[in-house]
Amino acid sequence: MTNRLVLLISGRGSNLQSILNACQSGQISSTEIVCVISNRAEAPGLAVAIQAGIPTQVIAHRDYASREDFDAALRRSIDAHHPDLVVLAGFMRQLTAAFVSHYLGRMVNIHPSLLPAFPGLHTHARALEKGVCWHGATVHFVTPELDAGPIIVQAAVPVLATDDPASLAARVLEAEHQIYPQALAAILSGRCRLEAGRVHWSTPLPGAEGTVVHPVLAAPA
Ligand code: GAR
Repeated sequence: MTNRLVLLISGRGSNLQSILNACQSGQISSTEIVCVISNRAEAPGLAVAIQAGIPTQVIAHRDYASREDFDAALRRSIDAHHPDLVVLAGFMRQLTAAFVSHYLGRMVNIHPSLLPAFPGLHTHARALEKGVCWHGATVHFVTPELDAGPIIVQAAVPVLATDDPASLAARVLEAEHQIYPQALAAILSGRCRLEAGRVHWSTPLPGAEGTVVHPVLAAPA
């Protein structure tokens, strides 16, 4: 049976592209992106979908009087596609608790930080401001609290002395493009699911030992 994904985007669509590549290469097997929905008509990611022959839809939040009305319209559109999984790929709207509850365990998000650090916006600038040595990305199940759902996988990247928000964002984005397809493959193959509010892996994860030390200590004294 083919898994059905609906992707929600608001912008560039680079995560959409990485997920699409993974579906096409078989890294995510037996899976079709059945629709890409954007809340912004000008989102460049829509062209990525159109280029790949994926149906697109724009549901502009500005056309709705309230968050509830927008979420109701979004839900109607998503459900018409009967998705197995709803994938937020740079979707920059807060969703109501009722909407999120409807998709509990069936909706995932990627966030550009090592949650629970730096939920919300401008994560890269805030990481630099705090002087953290490590930054990264998190894939998680979506729950009503913003950027706070049960964590499926994370990737860490070092923060370098020469970084500005753009260079750090580029390093994190590369990590995003690795882990989002991996996480989706795990969920869609049934290896990973949300159970009683926690992420449950059906196959034991291989052990990993050791400490990774930030490259700053490898610099000549
Ligand atoms: C990505 O960095 C993603 O992690 C972030 O938006 C960007 C979308 O890029 N999402 C969030 O901040 C959600 N809180 P893309 O359109 O190129 O995939």
